[in-house]
Formats: sequence, C-alpha cells, structure tokens
Amino acid sequence: MKKNIAIFASGSGSNAENIVKYFSKTPEFSFIIVSNKKDAYVLARAENLGVKSCFFLKEDFVSGEKILDFLLTNHVDFIVLAGFLLKIPAILIENYPNKIVNIHPALLPKYGGRGMYGDNVHRAVKAAGEAESGITIHYVNQNYDGGDIIFQARCAIAPTDTPEKIAEKVHRLEYEYFPKIIEKSLKNKIE
Ligand code: GAR
Repeated sequence: MKKNIAIFASGSGSNAENIVKYFSKTPEFSFIIVSNKKDAYVLARAENLGVKSCFFLKEDFVSGEKILDFLLTNHVDFIVLAGFLLKIPAILIENYPNKIVNIHPALLPKYGGRGMYGDNVHRAVKAAGEAESGITIHYVNQNYDGGDIIFQARCAIAPTDTPEKIAEKVHRLEYEYFPKIIEKSLKNKIE
C-alpha cells in the first residue's frame, strides 16, 4: 500500500534531495516537501525532482493546526526533518507518535539544543577541539534534539580540519545513512 512521507526542510535541502533520489525506485513511498521559508533552495530542488512541495509561515508552526490539517488531507504517514529549524508543535507530535524523525549533525547529547543547527554545530565542535563528530538520527519529542536516539555514526576530526571540512565529513555520513535509517523506521512503524 502506498505510503506518504513529508520531508520538512528550511534551507538547502541536500538531504531532502538525497532521500527522494534514494526512494525513487520504491514506488510505494511518495514524498511531499514542506518548508517554512519561501525562498529556501529545497523548494527549487523539489520542483526539479518533480516532488510536490508547500510552504507555511513560521506562525503556522506555533499551534500547528493548519499544518496538521494539511498533513491529514494529504494522508501523510511519516515525517522526516532534514535541516528543519523550527520547533515541531505538540499537536504534530501527538498525532505522529514515533513517526517523526530528525537528523542532527553531531553526536547528541553533545552540541544539541536551541541554536545548535547547521554550521553553528560544526563551529562549536571545532572550538571545543573534539577529535570526532558525526550524525544522530532520533525520534522527535517536545524537547529540541531530545527524543530517543535511533542511530549514530562517527567521523574522525583532524586537528587541521576547519568547520567546513567537518561539515563535509558529516554531510557524507548523512547522505550514506539517513535514507537507510528512514527506510528501516518506515518498515517498523508503518504497516
Ligand atoms: C544538515 O547537516 C542537518 O543535519 C542539519 O542541517 C543541515 C541541513 O542541510 N540539521 C540541523 O542542524 C538540525 N538541528 P541540507 O539542507 O543541505 O540537507
């Protein structure tokens, strides 16, 4: 039976594109991309990929009612946060229990929480002189970056690595593992 997955993304959307491409040979999964930024590059990627997309105002993510209505109308079964920077409203968490997953570009619980996103994370990891970083894929609950961890992968950081180099290593892990972990979670959670 066909399953509908919403990918929420706020920025470039390279993970969103990688996920859509990974599942392109799996016709039972279809995607819809949701952004909170009208000019986010992810919306251009969606158009190029031929994937339906939509945009909601930041205010709509406060109560979340309008978004829930949209997700239910489109029969969305599962939500993937791929570089999505707003807090997920409680109403979505209640309606999609353990059906919302997020990727964080560091080894949680380190370098998580409010303000810790994208390059801020890599700069903080570099400033702390860490010898490794990585990715964390986790379920989403009411706390920023606080839900149960599903999967982590690590990469070594050389003393000479810049935050940009760390970002590159972390992105590589994201592209390799995020679609596979989504696939596993979908198989466990959606019958
Ligand atoms: C990714 O590295 C993702 O892990 C991170 O934003 C980037 C989005 O890149 N997410 C967070 O920092 C969430 N706290 P992309 O738009 O190219 O996929």
